[in-house]
Amino acid sequence: MPDAPKRVNIFPMKTAKGKVDELFLDGSARIHCPPGLIPIPGQYLLAHADASDSPLPIPLFFSGFTPKGFRSAPPVPSTWRPGESLTLRGPIGHGFALPYSAKKVALIAFDESPARLRGLISMSLRQNAEVALVCDSETADLPEVVEIQPVRAMLDALQWADYAAIDVGRENLNQFWEMLGEQKQAAAGFEAQVLVRAPMPCGALAECGVCALTLGHEWRMVCRDGPVFELYELA
Ligand code: FES
Repeated sequence: MPDAPKRVNIFPMKTAKGKVDELFLDGSARIHCPPGLIPIPGQYLLAHADASDSPLPIPLFFSGFTPKGFRSAPPVPSTWRPGESLTLRGPIGHGFALPYSAKKVALIAFDESPARLRGLISMSLRQNAEVALVCDSETADLPEVVEIQPVRAMLDALQWADYAAIDVGRENLNQFWEMLGEQKQAAAGFEAQVLVRAPMPCGALAECGVCALTLGHEWRMVCRDGPVFELYELA
């Protein structure tokens, strides 16, 4: 198996001011923030718009670097406007850990946009890895060398790759395993990590339990113990 570094979780998390620099048609946003707050792929920040009445912050996932911060994966609230002042807390949680030796990387957006996985494309190409992006949604502005495959080819991609990063909603985990079928046990041996999406209103501060995930006989919190888990932990 490739030499996977330990999962990354950067503490202590910080709180700082930031702002929305630009909004994009796909629902993502360019976020201006201090360098120390920029999450790695798979991690998130909690963002609260200073002008908002809502008590709940929004998780912002990394999708790519920008000169003064990062581009967040969609969706951001439709009420946000360019220049909106934000209070940001993070980075939070375990992100993806791309093995240094990975030469065939599969990025699998099982049920949504691949935006949360996009940050891994440039990292993979920098270490001369081939990249296959598996998704059923529209993709734009991808490097030509990235091969696009439909989700029905997921198993082939997993077998081809020496590292896979997967994005799946908590509510679709059963469907994910059903699609692997008899390969479920074999899949536990793949070098793969899974970003599990779930509502994360408190980001581990209040232990609200909304993000709970059952693993075997244990409860785990997606916000704190994930959102990126090893595939074998979920099998
Ligand atoms: S979001 Fe509250 S415990 Fe995870």
